[in-house]
Amino acid sequence: MELRPLGGTGIAVSPLGLGTVKFGRNQQVKYPRAFEIPDDRAVRELLELARGLGINLLDTAPAYGTAQERLGRLLPGPRSDWVLVSKVGEFFEGGRSRFDFGFHTTVAVVEQALRDLRTDYLDCALIHSDGDDLRILEQEGAADALRELKRRGLIRSHGISSKTVAGGLRAVELLDVVMVTCNLEYNEERPVLEAAAAAGRGVLVKKGLMSGHLRGAEGVRAAMAFVFSQPGVSSMIVGTIDPGHLRANVRTLEAILG
Ligand SMILES: NC(=O)c1ccc[n+]([C@@H]2O[C@H](COP(=O)([O-])OP(=O)(O)OC[C@H]3O[C@@H](n4cnc5c(N)ncnc54)[C@H](OP(=O)(O)O)[C@@H]3O)[C@@H](O)[C@H]2O)c1
Repeated sequence: MELRPLGGTGIAVSPLGLGTVKFGRNQQVKYPRAFEIPDDRAVRELLELARGLGINLLDTAPAYGTAQERLGRLLPGPRSDWVLVSKVGEFFEGGRSRFDFGFHTTVAVVEQALRDLRTDYLDCALIHSDGDDLRILEQEGAADALRELKRRGLIRSHGISSKTVAGGLRAVELLDVVMVTCNLEYNEERPVLEAAAAAGRGVLVKKGLMSGHLRGAEGVRAAMAFVFSQPGVSSMIVGTIDPGHLRANVRTLEAILG
């Protein structure tokens, strides 16, 4: 797959990224079917397959159970083959989410991500919003902490996985990257995509396949075509633990992008 710029970050990403929720967590998730977390061999093979198909972008988070630590253990190839995106602010403990967007917590969470992922930098750290985007951006320490971590070289770029139009628009002013929900059934955050495109920010789309609530191959094609008809999209992050789906998703997207 041909890489594209992640806004003005200097980072080049595959238009299809791999989401890793299902690598480490099967509680309190909204997928259509229950699933078993794949074993180490299956995760390793999926990562090898992704790399072979030209995917370089992996999206993870401390809130995805064991996903981040497993990536650190199982990631094939040199670090430079991958663009690693992780998050700050959300913790998933004892089957429940807890949030902390403080300055010192944010620094500690990124430092832990580096240990988990066995690396000395993240390509991007996103604030994992609880829905109160504006308050987090304007009243909590997380954004300042991410700027400080970028200055120190521990992260190459920063952003927010946002949930509101107002928060997404503010993030376009303050940060390098926005991660926005965009799909055939929900496109209320399109003004954020437009603003990000105009400002040259990186845009990652989450839940583009409606978390799997789809009808067959044609449903996947229509969902992907819709996402890539929107302005400014750098990459669509699709979560899968099925090698057949991963192959099909790459084929489908390549046909759409030409
Ligand atoms: N707040 C946040 O920051 C946030 C929130 C949500 C998501 N995300 C990120 O975005 C990623 C994607 O979001 P998501 O997992 O909610 O939604 P998604 O990518 O829209 O959907 C993932 C679901 O679609 C299924 N799927 C994938 N390819 C398919 C295909 N070809 N045919 C049929 N089903 C297919 C997967 O099942 P199979 O495993 O069976 O393929 C999985 O259950 C996450 O993994 C995560 O990295 C971030």
